[in-house]
Amino acid sequence: MKNSLNLDNYWMPFTANQLFKENPRLLVESSGMYYTSHDDRNILDGVAGLWCCNVGHCHPTVVSAIREQVGKLDYSTIFNMAHPKIFELAEKVSSLTPEGLDRIFFGNSGSEAVETAMKVVLGYHALRGEPNRTKFIGREKGYHGVNFGGTSVGGIPLNKDLFGSLFSDVDLIPHTWNPAYMAFSKGVPSWGGHLADILEEKLLLHDPSTVAAVIIEPVTGSGGVIVPPEGYLKKIRDICDKYNILLIFDEVITGFGRLGHSFAAERFQVRPDIITMAKGLTSGVIPMSAVAFRNDIHQEFMSASPDSIELFHGYTYSGHPVASAAALAVLEVYEEEDLFNRALSLETLFEDTLHSLKGINDSVLDIRNIGLMGAIHFNDNKGPANATSMKVFQECYDQGLLLRSSADYLVISPALIVQEEQILKIGETLKSVINKL
Ligand SMILES: Cc1ncc(COP(=O)(O)O)c(C=O)c1O
Repeated sequence: MKNSLNLDNYWMPFTANQLFKENPRLLVESSGMYYTSHDDRNILDGVAGLWCCNVGHCHPTVVSAIREQVGKLDYSTIFNMAHPKIFELAEKVSSLTPEGLDRIFFGNSGSEAVETAMKVVLGYHALRGEPNRTKFIGREKGYHGVNFGGTSVGGIPLNKDLFGSLFSDVDLIPHTWNPAYMAFSKGVPSWGGHLADILEEKLLLHDPSTVAAVIIEPVTGSGGVIVPPEGYLKKIRDICDKYNILLIFDEVITGFGRLGHSFAAERFQVRPDIITMAKGLTSGVIPMSAVAFRNDIHQEFMSASPDSIELFHGYTYSGHPVASAAALAVLEVYEEEDLFNRALSLETLFEDTLHSLKGINDSVLDIRNIGLMGAIHFNDNKGPANATSMKVFQECYDQGLLLRSSADYLVISPALIVQEEQILKIGETLKSVINKL
């Protein structure tokens, strides 16, 4: 490998570059649930790329929509000009968002969606005559991308350590994972709803009239698939309402069927004021993200004089025509193949499969799941848990299964097209690898 391909110049993100380059893992083709690796092996994709390829790889409907679009209109600016597909897409996305969150802004990544949401929140409060509402409350273990706003409200210390004070008007509420009370809970843990009360204490500490918004992932994704305890999200909603604070659900992972619904907001029956989304919007094929805003938030901006630009924000590639075509095709596939319901119907098998790993080895500290997302959390009984997680990842990969190792846990999040036998295969591979620890 090293002889045929120069690996020196590329600086890889979120990767131990030196380690990777000693033993590179390259993917060269993809189809359905599988990748082909550079050493010509079939690799079952147990993480849908990176929680994004929800319709599976190289779906023919999506591939042909992209081909057609790129040959017809490859690019059009979205500043003061537009193309029809972006309006079609905004209407389609708004049909999936909770009622009243019908105004859609487009970006290119989850990180950009979060920055957009945060800037609009600040602008909204300023326009309403509350310019002092500038603080954001995030949550420990939260991940909201890597730009300055998202890094600031995130709750993964390693992501912030080198970068100074960032956006400093931020505080975090505690995460909800406590293995002493909820280890091996299937789906929603029954313990922990009371942890939402800490938000109110935090707000009172800051003076709630200075807080602009609370931003959380309804299910913590990259931080380890931490499922909200029963009643937790409803309480968070109520506390935000009590103090007129906006609630942002970052649904970059949980959107578009990962939990068997359009959005986690629908699954948990809690309506936020703003939803950020990306990944499943285009099934990862072309970068695109979006933010759904409550209609009156948008309206606040629209009360500017009719000839003025209402929002000084946007990206060169906002609403890109090729990404729009990809997203429209992906949304069509979700509908035609009834993939959100499919995810829901596979949830019990997925849950049982993951939880069958409980107790096979004392290095397994916890197993968590909801919808088609799950995590296996390791402890230090057999050496440092981070190393265990990486070892399991590598051995699974050697056996033809791609998962994602992050800190001391592994995540599993197959495409919504996953077959029952492929879920079982994920379980068998994990069992044989963990057994040998
Ligand atoms: C909840 C959440 N928000 C934001 C992001 C950032 O998205 P991106 O990597 O597309 O910038 C991610 C990425 O995993 C995410 O999981």
